[in-house]
Amino acid sequence: SAAEKGGYDYFMLKEIAEQPKAVADTLLGRIDASGVLSLDELRIPPAVLREVDKVVIVACGTAYHAGMIAKYAIEHWTRIPCETELASEFRYRDPILDRHTLVIAISQSGETMDTLMALRHAREQGAKVLAICNTNGSTIPRESDAVLYTHAGPEVAVASTKAFLTQLVACYLVALYVAQVRGTKWGDEIRDVVRELAAIGTQVEQVLDTMEPVRELARSLADKNTVLFLGRHVGYPVALEGALKLKELAYMHAEGFAAGELKHGPIALIEDDLPVVVVVPSPRGRSVLHDKIVSNIQEIRARGARTIVIAEEGDETVVPYADHLVRIPRTPVLLQPLVSTVPLQVFACELATARGNEVDQPRNLAKSVTVE
Ligand code: AGP
Repeated sequence: SAAEKGGYDYFMLKEIAEQPKAVADTLLGRIDASGVLSLDELRIPPAVLREVDKVVIVACGTAYHAGMIAKYAIEHWTRIPCETELASEFRYRDPILDRHTLVIAISQSGETMDTLMALRHAREQGAKVLAICNTNGSTIPRESDAVLYTHAGPEVAVASTKAFLTQLVACYLVALYVAQVRGTKWGDEIRDVVRELAAIGTQVEQVLDTMEPVRELARSLADKNTVLFLGRHVGYPVALEGALKLKELAYMHAEGFAAGELKHGPIALIEDDLPVVVVVPSPRGRSVLHDKIVSNIQEIRARGARTIVIAEEGDETVVPYADHLVRIPRTPVLLQPLVSTVPLQVFACELATARGNEVDQPRNLAKSVTVE
């Protein structure tokens, strides 16, 4: 009913709008006033975390994209090797696991069969399994050794939005907590990141307040057949997520690429007026990547692409090559997906509406995939 949707036309719009709160709720009580992470609720003793020598993340769809982003954060902050794998592929390749492996299973519903089978397999091999889940008491957390709940609240729309942002928050919390427990060389950086993460809801809010041009752009592209997405580093999974949202909702051909792969094939797809969304990393931090993406934008634009550039405030170098420029607030490099994903959600939702599609219940899809 209209009341359930809180005055919005679709649950998806409501859930997109709820993201600042979802993120804040997921952070609540997990960072103390002095910036120390307290995750006693995990019930994995620090001694066990100190012995972990490999992290493996398993998940499907949007949750898998969160896991891909988590890999960058976990390896950088904890220096523990981490791999992220599609749950549906994981157990069929006889993965190497033992009691020093920490497996993280990410799932909004907690009922995804592929993810459940992957975690059962991991536990049989003696690995410890931590679930990141949005649904209290669902099967995946019940069958795991530990759980960190996301507090997105119920997500009704089939296309995941607020659950994704809170999965990212939970992954960052785990990565920062493990770094804190083990003590890494990034002590100062971690303190700064924790402070900025604690306040990230405000920045998500800021993005939501500036989305009208994105909606307008989406409507103007309603009769296109294809949209490409490029990103690098943590922006690469964001590009994949942007493409997945567009497939699910707008039923358009959409693909996400690692920008560095452009010359290895995908650049052949570029033709006149093809919309290409580019997620630009911060010019601060790993600025080499920033400069490389700027040349990618120039290259595709020279071949006719219509460039839709998502870039941090104050990044002026992209201006001459952006046919459409979407500004996002400054964040620490690894946290950027929390703000850069939001315009892509809005974009897909508006395009779906413009094409007359059913936003909350896309064709052929179920909210939770309980068969393998
Ligand atoms: C997201 O928009 C999708 N509907 C889908 O990819 C989903 O994220 C995936 O099926 C995993 O679901 P889960 O988080 O409930 O395990």
